[in-house]
Amino acid sequence: MLFDPARIEVLYSEEELKKIVNGLAEKINEYYSPITDEITAVCILKGSVHFYSDLLKRLNLKVRYNFVHVSSYSGASTTGRIRVKTWVDESVTNRYVLLVEDIVDTGGTLRYIINYIWKQKPADVKLVSLFEKTIHDHGVKIDFTGEKIGDQFIVGYGLDYEEVCRNLPYVGYLKGE
Ligand code: PRP
Ligand code: MN
Ligand code: MG
Repeated sequence: MLFDPARIEVLYSEEELKKIVNGLAEKINEYYSPITDEITAVCILKGSVHFYSDLLKRLNLKVRYNFVHVSSYSGASTTGRIRVKTWVDESVTNRYVLLVEDIVDTGGTLRYIINYIWKQKPADVKLVSLFEKTIHDHGVKIDFTGEKIGDQFIVGYGLDYEEVCRNLPYVGYLKGE
């Protein structure tokens, strides 16, 4: 697809995203402050890149950065096959792990990652997702959810359609998908 902004209808402006991210950061700070002063935040690339960066700047904690690159989508639908391109480069044993995801749809990506993360015996694992699709039961317990959305294919602020649109500062709905 050639990038065509006319096909994108804005759902969350840059300002609205900022508010959602601030709200999540507040809740995450509240959760951790009585239990630990240091966490390992895992960015689930590529979609979470902007969310991760903005969220972590708002945490009053020591944060160890870690990245996994896992993908399964082709166009607007999941292939059902998870491809792991990069995995954590530091053990999470005994660490307080926060998995940072941009969107949970079928839950396949997070289920896969959580399963492997728990094998390393972390002290705690929590999930934050900026968006959550509520059209089906994805079976993942998300501890901190930004916005619940319906069955729209959204792009921008990290989320792609065929690897483009990630750098849009807002989140929009891709008409016709
Ligand atoms: C997208 C999105 C989530 C996942 C959600 O990633 O960023 O990671 O799909 O879908 P699920 O709950 O059905 O697994 P994608 O596979 O497109 O890779 P990307 O982050 O590199 O774009
Ligand atoms: Mn992703
Ligand atoms: Mg994608």
